[in-house]
Amino acid sequence: MEQQLRQLSKDAQTEISQATCVENLQEVRVKYLGKKGSLTVLLRGLGNLSKEMRPKMGQVVNEIRSELEGALNEKTSELKASELKNRLAKEKIDISLPGRKVPSGHLHPLSLTLNRIKDIFMKLGFQVAEGPEVEQDYYNFEMLNFPKDHPARDMQDSFYITENILLRTHTSPVQARTLQAHEPNSPVRIIAPGKVYRSDYDATHSPMFQQVEGLVVDKGIRFSDLKGTLELFLHEIFGSSVAVRFRPSFFPFTEPSAEVDISCVMCGGKGCRVCSGTGWLEILGSGMVHPNVLTLNNYDPQAVSGFAFGMGVERIAMLSYGIDDMRLFFENDVRFLQQY
Ligand code: PHE
Repeated sequence: MEQQLRQLSKDAQTEISQATCVENLQEVRVKYLGKKGSLTVLLRGLGNLSKEMRPKMGQVVNEIRSELEGALNEKTSELKASELKNRLAKEKIDISLPGRKVPSGHLHPLSLTLNRIKDIFMKLGFQVAEGPEVEQDYYNFEMLNFPKDHPARDMQDSFYITENILLRTHTSPVQARTLQAHEPNSPVRIIAPGKVYRSDYDATHSPMFQQVEGLVVDKGIRFSDLKGTLELFLHEIFGSSVAVRFRPSFFPFTEPSAEVDISCVMCGGKGCRVCSGTGWLEILGSGMVHPNVLTLNNYDPQAVSGFAFGMGVERIAMLSYGIDDMRLFFENDVRFLQQY
C-alpha cells in the first residue's frame, strides 16, 4: 500500500508541475484530493488494514495530502502571477481618452434672480437682514401701523398658527425687527430677502413666494432718494430702456406710498396680453416710512426719515425670463429648469 501511495504522490506532483493554467490545477486537485479523488479513496480503504498498519498508513496519507496541497497552492500562485504578467504586457490602457462628464446641476432661476437683486443692492451699500417665516402678529402687522381690525389686514390675512402667530405675509416685519435691533435713530440700509405666505394660488400667485424688502433710514432721506434708488435698480434688472412710473398707493406703514410700474417688457409699452393692454407692469410697492412706524420702533420722526420698498422675486424672474406661469418654478421639472 505504501508503494501505491508513493506512486500516486509522484504522479500528482508531475501533473501539478506540468499544469499550464489555474483551471488545470483545479482538475488535478479534484482528481486526487476531491471527494472521489484517488487519495480520498485510499484513505477510506484504511479501514480494511490491520490495527498495526492503520496508524502508520494514516500518517503517510496525511503527509502526502499536505505535500500535495502545498504544491498545489504554490503552483497556483505561480500561475496567477504569470497570467497577470502576461495580461499586463498585452493590455494597454489608453489614458488619452477623455473621461465621461458627470452632469452637474445649477442654480434655480429664482436663486439666480435673487442673486442679481442682492448684487445690485450690495453695490449700493445695503446689508442683508433676515427674519423668521413664522412671525408674530406684533411684527407682521402691529409695529407696521396696522392696528387690530384695520381693513388693510384683509389684503394680507393668511395662515394663522395661533391668534398671535402666523406665517409672515410679507417681509416688512424685518423693517420693525431691524429698527428695534438698532440704537434709536442710527442709520439703517438693509434689504431683507425671504419667503412669505398668502392663501392665493393661480398662474401668477403661489401660497409661498419670495420677497425682497428694502429699508433706508437716516437723517434727511427724501422721496427723491427712493426714486433714484428704485430707478437705478429697475434699469439694472430690466435694461436702461424701460420706463419707470410711480403711482400713488396705500400701505399703512408708508406715507406717501407709491406703486412702481415699468413699461411692459413684452410689448415695449404698446399693450399686450401680459400687461392687459395697459403698456405697464406693476413691479413693486414702496413709500416713505410712516412716522408712526418710526415712533413704534423707538425712532424719532423729527430726527430721521426713511424709505422702504418690497418686491416679489417670482414676478421679477417671470418678467426677466419671459415665464408665464409661476407654478413652473415649483414643479421641479428638469426640462424647464435646464433652460436657465
Ligand atoms: N409689504 C408690501 C407688500 O407685501 C410691500 C411694501 C414694502 C410696500 C415696503 C411699501 C414698503 O405688498
